[in-house]
Amino acid sequence: MGINVAIDGPAGAGKSTIAKLVAKKMGYIYVDTGAMYRALAIHFLNKGISPEDEEAIILAVKGADVKIRYEAGVQQVYLNGENVTERLRDEAVGNMASASSAIPRVREKLLMLQKDLAKQFDVVMDGRDIGTCILPDAEVKIYLTASVKTRAKRRYDELAAKGIECDFAAIEKDIEERDRRDMTRETAPLKQAEDAVLVDSSDMTIEEVTEKITALCRDRRER
Ligand code: DC
Repeated sequence: MGINVAIDGPAGAGKSTIAKLVAKKMGYIYVDTGAMYRALAIHFLNKGISPEDEEAIILAVKGADVKIRYEAGVQQVYLNGENVTERLRDEAVGNMASASSAIPRVREKLLMLQKDLAKQFDVVMDGRDIGTCILPDAEVKIYLTASVKTRAKRRYDELAAKGIECDFAAIEKDIEERDRRDMTRETAPLKQAEDAVLVDSSDMTIEEVTEKITALCRDRRER
């Protein structure tokens, strides 16, 4: 039997790294829903809209067409026919995605796309509201988190490895601010689903977390 796996959690908890590895081990499709919000964010930024301008975002969202394709098993994100995968991780894009994803019209735009992918394939889908809203019947639900310090350190190391100069305190503040926004918004706030397994990766290696979640998936699949 195929199953769907929902992985939710705050920014920097390692969701995408882990979800990708679990999907590979299980032979499932990895769906990065944050990338979809980020693609919409690129659309708003391209139009010169500021993250605070809710009215302009609501108007602009109608003209955005986000499509997901799998090329050699890797998710590619298209915005109005253009492959924007390379731009998704920009800092400005992340900030715009965090602000605009709080707007119900923005979330509605992506709801069916996400549900349809899970109907079509066995997926490991990561995001903020997958276990609570998008796939409430997912067979495995994980809430993956880590302390703010750990997440800030990971982000710092990631940027440093790319040769980007950065300030640790600023990254920490940015993560706290993003947590606050994601957890306190009215629509689909980030929270642990009642039936989700809590995994705190602060003191775990990537392999340990992957192993733990894969074991839960295998267990569920064999039931
Ligand atoms: O996981 P990420 O950092 O790529 O997500 C970018 C932003 O998109 C994040 O601040 C919250 C939002 N998001 C969301 O609201 N719901 C999701 N399912 C995925 C992401």
